[in-house]
Parts: sequence; structure tokens; C-alpha cells
Amino acid sequence: MKFFVDTAEIDAIAELNDLGMVDGVTTNPSLILKSGRDILEVTREICDLVDGPVSAEVVALNADDMIAEGRKLAQIADNIAVKVPLTWDGLKTCKVLSGEGHMVNVTLCFSANQALLAAKAGATFISPFIGRLDDINLDGMDLIADIRTIYDNYGFDTQILAASIRTVNHVTESARIGADVITAPPGVIKALANHPLTDKGLDAFMADWAKTGQKIL
Ligand code: G3P
Repeated sequence: MKFFVDTAEIDAIAELNDLGMVDGVTTNPSLILKSGRDILEVTREICDLVDGPVSAEVVALNADDMIAEGRKLAQIADNIAVKVPLTWDGLKTCKVLSGEGHMVNVTLCFSANQALLAAKAGATFISPFIGRLDDINLDGMDLIADIRTIYDNYGFDTQILAASIRTVNHVTESARIGADVITAPPGVIKALANHPLTDKGLDAFMADWAKTGQKIL
């Protein structure tokens, strides 16, 4: 499973990248706002840092302008994935840009039918938003499972990029179901290392080690 980091914070990306935990990065207008950075400038810096796909989102709502914005974003670097919303105009944009050889990430997916359309339009990635479905008392993981089944039934090679991941359990479940990629905030990726029995075991080892009076260095 690939790990993408869902942030536009350079320091956080760099920290995880140094550990080999970053297969790509996703951003969106809200994350650009949070970073306080210029979209073109920060996206270029992220692309310089990370080898894998870096999603940068268009903000126009009609296809002609989305296509123009997507082409401009794609000029930033070879590893840009143009992110478009799951609307008819977004799907048109996906078809055109993927036909030109650009990676396209279709975002704001909340149903299996939407995911089917994105695959047919040539999407490289489909981004179902798990957490936001959970927020309205639906089960986001059911959507990941449905898309996995449908894509496998017909051999679509669009990658399932589980997004809006809020918890470590979302990561486990996405991996169990067979999502190709998860994108999660840095804090969730770091929390994957946590286990109370690890902390407890380490405390016990440290206490016993102190009693030996020995040193390794
Ligand atoms: O990858 C999509 C993500 O940024 C949305 O997450 O937590 O705002 O639903 P959230």
C-alpha cells in the first residue's frame, strides 16, 4: 500500500519523507489556505522534495477553465497529478488531461457510481472521502469495498486513493479492503507507530536495564 501525505506543510512532508514513508502528497484549496503559502510556489517545493505523485487541485468550475488550470499546474513538474472535483466538468477535464498524458486525481467522491464514471474518464486516482461519510453516519469503508469490487470486476486500473482519513483504524481497514493508496495527515501516519503495550514493554525494559548498571556506549 502506498502512503500519500495529505498536507502542504513542507517540514511535515520532509520529516516523513526522510523515513521513506512518503509515496506521494495530496493538497487541496483548504490545505493551501492552512499552509499560508502561494499554491504554485509551495507545490513546486513539494515536487522537488518528493518523487511520487503530488496532487494539486484546480479551482475553476467549468471544464475549459479547469483544463487551462490543470495544464498550468502540470507544468510545475512531471510528478504533478491534477486534482479535479467529481462533477461533469471535472470528468470532462479528467478525460482531456489524462488523454494528454497527465496524471489526474478525481476528488470529492462519495459514491460507487461516481467512482465508476471517474475510471471510465481515465482517472489515475479516485479519492473517496471516508471521514466525511462517517460524519453523516454512513460507513466510509463500505464505499472503499464497493469501489474495489467494481474496479476488479471490470479490470479498471484507476487507483483507489482512500482520502479524508481521520483515524489509524481507517488506515487498517483501507489496507484490509485493498485500497491502493491512503492519504492521511502527518499526525495520523505518525500515530500508526503507537501501541500502549509497546510503551509499557519499553518502560519495563528500561527499569530492568537501569538495575544492571551497564552501559552500551
Ligand atoms: O484528502 C482529503 C482530505 O484533505 C479531506 O479531509 O478531514 O477535511 O475530510 P477532511
